[in-house]
Amino acid sequence: MVIIHRDHLHTQNPDVKKIIITIDGYSSCGKSTLAKQLAAKLNYLYIDSGAMYRAITLYFIQQRVEWNDSVQVKNALENISLEFIHNQISGQSDMFLNGENVEQMIREMLVAERVSEVAAIREVREFAVAQQQKMGAQKGIVMDGRDIGTVVFPHAELKIFMTADPAIRVERRFKELYAKNPNITLHEVKENLELRDYIDANREISPLRKAEDAIILDNSQLNLQEQLDLVMQWVEDAIMAHSS
Ligand code: DC
Repeated sequence: MVIIHRDHLHTQNPDVKKIIITIDGYSSCGKSTLAKQLAAKLNYLYIDSGAMYRAITLYFIQQRVEWNDSVQVKNALENISLEFIHNQISGQSDMFLNGENVEQMIREMLVAERVSEVAAIREVREFAVAQQQKMGAQKGIVMDGRDIGTVVFPHAELKIFMTADPAIRVERRFKELYAKNPNITLHEVKENLELRDYIDANREISPLRKAEDAIILDNSQLNLQEQLDLVMQWVEDAIMAHSS
Protein backbone atom coordinates (compact mmCIF):
# COMPACT_ATOMS: atom_id res chain seq x y z
CA MET A 1 0.00 0.00 0.00
CA VAL A 2 1.28 3.48 -0.86
CA ILE A 3 0.91 6.04 1.91
CA ILE A 4 0.31 9.52 0.57
CA HIS A 5 0.42 12.63 2.69
CA ARG A 6 -2.28 15.27 2.05
CA ASP A 7 0.42 17.87 1.30
CA HIS A 8 1.56 15.83 -1.70
CA LEU A 9 -1.79 15.41 -3.36
CA HIS A 10 -1.35 18.18 -5.89
CA THR A 11 2.08 17.16 -7.14
CA GLN A 12 2.89 15.10 -10.22
CA ASN A 13 3.56 12.10 -7.93
CA PRO A 14 2.60 9.05 -10.04
CA ASP A 15 1.20 7.32 -6.95
CA VAL A 16 -1.43 10.03 -6.67
CA LYS A 17 -4.27 8.82 -8.86
CA LYS A 18 -6.08 11.31 -11.00
CA ILE A 19 -9.82 11.34 -10.46
CA ILE A 20 -12.93 12.54 -12.26
CA ILE A 21 -14.85 15.37 -10.58
CA THR A 22 -18.40 16.03 -11.75
CA ILE A 23 -20.35 19.18 -10.92
CA ASP A 24 -24.04 19.23 -11.72
CA GLY A 25 -26.77 21.63 -10.74
CA TYR A 26 -29.23 24.33 -11.71
CA SER A 27 -28.35 27.20 -14.01
CA SER A 28 -26.21 29.98 -12.52
CA CYS A 29 -25.15 28.28 -9.31
CA GLY A 30 -21.52 29.04 -10.08
CA LYS A 31 -20.62 25.57 -11.34
CA SER A 32 -18.13 26.77 -13.92
CA THR A 33 -16.41 29.15 -11.50
CA LEU A 34 -15.82 26.33 -9.05
CA ALA A 35 -14.84 23.87 -11.79
CA LYS A 36 -12.23 26.30 -13.17
CA GLN A 37 -10.77 26.91 -9.71
CA LEU A 38 -10.49 23.18 -9.04
CA ALA A 39 -8.96 22.44 -12.42
CA ALA A 40 -6.34 25.17 -11.92
CA LYS A 41 -5.46 23.97 -8.42
CA LEU A 42 -5.20 20.32 -9.42
CA ASN A 43 -3.76 20.86 -12.89
CA TYR A 44 -6.77 19.03 -14.35
CA LEU A 45 -8.64 19.58 -17.59
CA TYR A 46 -11.83 21.64 -17.25
CA ILE A 47 -14.73 20.90 -19.58
CA ASP A 48 -17.84 23.07 -19.72
CA SER A 49 -20.37 20.60 -21.14
CA GLY A 50 -23.03 23.32 -21.38
CA ALA A 51 -20.84 25.12 -23.94
CA MET A 52 -21.22 22.10 -26.22
CA TYR A 53 -25.03 22.22 -26.06
CA ARG A 54 -24.87 25.98 -26.59
CA ALA A 55 -22.65 25.61 -29.68
CA ILE A 56 -24.96 22.96 -31.16
CA THR A 57 -27.90 25.31 -30.52
CA LEU A 58 -26.09 28.17 -32.23
CA TYR A 59 -25.46 25.97 -35.26
CA PHE A 60 -29.13 24.93 -35.40
CA ILE A 61 -30.23 28.59 -35.23
CA GLN A 62 -27.72 29.74 -37.85
CA GLN A 63 -28.52 26.89 -40.24
CA ARG A 64 -32.26 27.07 -39.54
CA VAL A 65 -32.39 23.42 -38.54
CA GLU A 66 -35.93 22.35 -37.70
CA TRP A 67 -35.18 20.53 -34.47
CA ASN A 68 -38.49 18.68 -34.25
CA ASP A 69 -37.41 16.81 -37.37
CA SER A 70 -35.01 14.04 -36.39
CA VAL A 71 -33.68 13.59 -39.94
CA GLN A 72 -32.65 17.24 -40.04
CA VAL A 73 -31.11 16.94 -36.59
CA LYS A 74 -29.07 13.85 -37.54
CA ASN A 75 -27.83 15.47 -40.75
CA ALA A 76 -26.91 18.65 -38.92
CA LEU A 77 -24.96 16.78 -36.23
CA GLU A 78 -22.87 15.11 -38.92
CA ASN A 79 -21.67 18.55 -39.93
CA ILE A 80 -20.77 19.75 -36.47
CA SER A 81 -17.26 19.65 -35.10
CA LEU A 82 -16.71 20.91 -31.54
CA GLU A 83 -13.35 21.72 -29.99
CA PHE A 84 -12.14 23.43 -26.84
CA ILE A 85 -9.06 25.50 -27.61
CA HIS A 86 -6.90 27.19 -25.01
CA ASN A 87 -6.99 30.99 -25.15
CA GLN A 88 -3.54 32.41 -24.28
CA ILE A 89 -4.99 35.78 -23.25
CA SER A 90 -7.81 34.70 -20.96
CA GLY A 91 -6.08 31.51 -19.85
CA GLN A 92 -9.41 29.69 -20.40
CA SER A 93 -10.66 27.32 -23.08
CA ASP A 94 -12.82 28.78 -25.83
CA MET A 95 -15.52 26.83 -27.66
CA PHE A 96 -14.88 26.40 -31.37
CA LEU A 97 -17.69 25.37 -33.71
CA ASN A 98 -16.45 24.09 -37.08
CA GLY A 99 -13.19 25.97 -36.61
CA GLU A 100 -14.78 29.27 -35.53
CA ASN A 101 -14.43 30.74 -32.05
CA VAL A 102 -18.03 31.04 -30.81
CA GLU A 103 -17.26 31.58 -27.13
CA GLN A 104 -18.93 35.02 -27.03
CA MET A 105 -21.88 34.16 -29.23
CA ILE A 106 -22.95 31.06 -27.29
CA ARG A 107 -23.37 33.16 -24.11
CA GLU A 108 -25.93 35.48 -25.68
CA MET A 109 -29.63 35.46 -24.84
CA LEU A 110 -30.58 34.21 -28.29
CA VAL A 111 -28.82 30.93 -27.53
CA ALA A 112 -29.84 30.85 -23.84
CA GLU A 113 -33.49 31.03 -24.87
CA ARG A 114 -33.26 27.92 -27.06
CA VAL A 115 -30.55 25.75 -25.55
CA SER A 116 -32.72 23.77 -23.12
CA GLU A 117 -34.99 22.67 -25.98
CA VAL A 118 -32.04 21.54 -28.08
CA ALA A 119 -30.37 19.82 -25.10
CA ALA A 120 -33.53 17.75 -24.59
CA ILE A 121 -33.17 16.04 -28.00
CA ARG A 122 -31.98 12.43 -27.77
CA GLU A 123 -29.63 12.57 -30.78
CA VAL A 124 -28.05 15.77 -29.51
CA ARG A 125 -27.38 14.24 -26.10
CA GLU A 126 -25.90 11.06 -27.56
CA PHE A 127 -23.61 13.15 -29.75
CA ALA A 128 -22.40 15.33 -26.86
CA VAL A 129 -22.14 12.57 -24.23
CA ALA A 130 -19.96 10.35 -26.47
CA GLN A 131 -17.46 13.19 -26.86
CA GLN A 132 -17.53 14.05 -23.17
CA GLN A 133 -16.80 10.45 -22.18
CA LYS A 134 -13.78 10.38 -24.51
CA MET A 135 -12.42 13.55 -22.90
CA GLY A 136 -12.54 11.86 -19.49
CA ALA A 137 -10.92 8.59 -20.51
CA GLN A 138 -7.56 9.59 -18.96
CA LYS A 139 -9.23 11.03 -15.80
CA GLY A 140 -7.77 14.24 -14.33
CA ILE A 141 -10.85 16.14 -15.41
CA VAL A 142 -13.47 18.45 -13.89
CA MET A 143 -16.67 18.59 -15.92
CA ASP A 144 -19.76 20.61 -15.13
CA GLY A 145 -23.29 20.26 -16.50
CA ARG A 146 -26.62 18.65 -15.67
CA ASP A 147 -26.09 14.89 -16.19
CA ILE A 148 -22.36 14.49 -15.66
CA GLY A 149 -22.56 12.51 -12.41
CA THR A 150 -25.64 10.54 -13.47
CA VAL A 151 -25.03 9.70 -17.14
CA VAL A 152 -21.65 10.85 -18.47
CA PHE A 153 -19.45 9.62 -15.61
CA PRO A 154 -21.62 7.52 -13.30
CA HIS A 155 -18.45 6.06 -11.72
CA ALA A 156 -16.74 9.41 -11.03
CA GLU A 157 -14.77 9.46 -7.80
CA LEU A 158 -16.23 12.81 -6.66
CA LYS A 159 -19.67 14.08 -7.56
CA ILE A 160 -20.95 17.47 -6.48
CA PHE A 161 -24.51 18.71 -6.85
CA MET A 162 -24.65 22.49 -6.59
CA THR A 163 -27.59 24.56 -5.57
CA ALA A 164 -28.26 28.11 -4.38
CA ASP A 165 -31.21 30.27 -3.48
CA PRO A 166 -33.07 31.15 -6.77
CA ALA A 167 -33.07 34.90 -6.01
CA ILE A 168 -29.31 34.83 -5.53
CA ARG A 169 -28.85 32.92 -8.79
CA VAL A 170 -30.95 35.44 -10.74
CA GLU A 171 -28.95 38.32 -9.29
CA ARG A 172 -25.62 36.67 -10.14
CA ARG A 173 -26.62 35.91 -13.73
CA PHE A 174 -28.13 39.38 -14.16
CA LYS A 175 -24.86 41.05 -13.10
CA GLU A 176 -22.90 38.85 -15.50
CA LEU A 177 -25.19 39.54 -18.49
CA TYR A 178 -25.74 43.21 -17.68
CA ALA A 179 -21.99 43.85 -17.92
CA LYS A 180 -22.17 42.76 -21.56
CA ASN A 181 -25.64 44.05 -22.41
CA PRO A 182 -27.11 46.94 -20.34
CA ASN A 183 -30.49 46.52 -22.08
CA ILE A 184 -31.17 43.26 -20.32
CA THR A 185 -33.77 43.29 -17.54
CA LEU A 186 -33.90 41.38 -14.28
CA HIS A 187 -37.29 40.05 -15.29
CA GLU A 188 -35.93 38.58 -18.54
CA VAL A 189 -33.10 36.86 -16.72
CA LYS A 190 -35.45 35.48 -14.05
CA GLU A 191 -37.87 34.09 -16.65
CA ASN A 192 -35.06 32.48 -18.64
CA LEU A 193 -33.53 30.84 -15.56
CA GLU A 194 -36.85 29.52 -14.32
CA LEU A 195 -37.76 28.12 -17.72
CA ARG A 196 -34.36 26.48 -18.23
CA ASP A 197 -34.42 24.93 -14.76
CA TYR A 198 -37.89 23.60 -15.45
CA ILE A 199 -37.04 22.10 -18.85
CA ASP A 200 -33.68 20.72 -17.65
CA ALA A 201 -35.23 19.02 -14.62
CA ASN A 202 -38.34 17.69 -16.37
CA ARG A 203 -37.11 16.48 -19.75
CA GLU A 204 -37.48 12.81 -20.58
CA ILE A 205 -33.83 12.05 -21.36
CA SER A 206 -31.15 12.57 -18.71
CA PRO A 207 -33.05 15.13 -16.65
CA LEU A 208 -31.12 17.20 -14.15
CA ARG A 209 -31.07 15.30 -10.89
CA LYS A 210 -28.68 14.62 -8.08
CA ALA A 211 -26.75 11.36 -8.39
CA GLU A 212 -27.37 9.22 -5.32
CA ASP A 213 -23.73 9.45 -4.30
CA ALA A 214 -23.32 13.17 -5.00
CA ILE A 215 -22.52 15.63 -2.22
CA ILE A 216 -24.86 18.65 -2.08
CA LEU A 217 -23.16 22.04 -2.10
CA ASP A 218 -25.50 24.94 -1.30
CA ASN A 219 -23.40 28.04 -1.84
CA SER A 220 -26.06 30.69 -1.08
CA GLN A 221 -24.12 31.82 1.99
CA LEU A 222 -20.56 30.94 0.96
CA ASN A 223 -17.98 33.20 -0.63
CA LEU A 224 -15.70 31.78 -3.32
CA GLN A 225 -12.79 31.10 -0.97
CA GLU A 226 -14.97 29.35 1.62
CA GLN A 227 -16.50 27.26 -1.12
CA LEU A 228 -13.12 26.30 -2.58
CA ASP A 229 -11.69 25.39 0.83
CA LEU A 230 -14.68 23.17 1.56
CA VAL A 231 -14.60 21.40 -1.79
CA MET A 232 -10.83 20.91 -1.68
CA GLN A 233 -11.37 18.86 1.47
CA TRP A 234 -13.76 16.63 -0.44
CA VAL A 235 -11.30 16.40 -3.34
CA GLU A 236 -8.47 15.40 -1.02
CA ASP A 237 -10.64 12.78 0.65
CA ALA A 238 -11.62 11.36 -2.74
CA ILE A 239 -8.03 11.29 -4.01
CA MET A 240 -6.81 9.64 -0.79
CA ALA A 241 -9.56 7.04 -1.00
CA HIS A 242 -8.63 6.16 -4.57
CA SER A 243 -4.84 6.32 -4.26
CA SER A 244 -4.41 3.83 -1.42
O1 DC B 1 -24.41 25.23 -18.01
P1 DC B 1 -25.09 26.08 -19.07
O2 DC B 1 -26.09 27.05 -18.50
O3 DC B 1 -24.12 26.74 -19.99
O4 DC B 1 -25.91 25.03 -19.95
C1 DC B 1 -26.70 25.43 -21.03
C2 DC B 1 -27.85 24.48 -21.20
O5 DC B 1 -27.38 23.22 -21.67
C3 DC B 1 -28.69 24.20 -19.96
O6 DC B 1 -29.90 24.93 -19.97
C4 DC B 1 -28.98 22.74 -20.03
C5 DC B 1 -28.07 22.16 -21.04
N1 DC B 1 -27.10 21.20 -20.50
C6 DC B 1 -27.49 19.90 -20.42
O7 DC B 1 -28.62 19.57 -20.73
N2 DC B 1 -26.60 18.95 -20.02
C7 DC B 1 -25.37 19.30 -19.65
N3 DC B 1 -24.50 18.35 -19.27
C8 DC B 1 -24.96 20.65 -19.71
C9 DC B 1 -25.87 21.60 -20.12
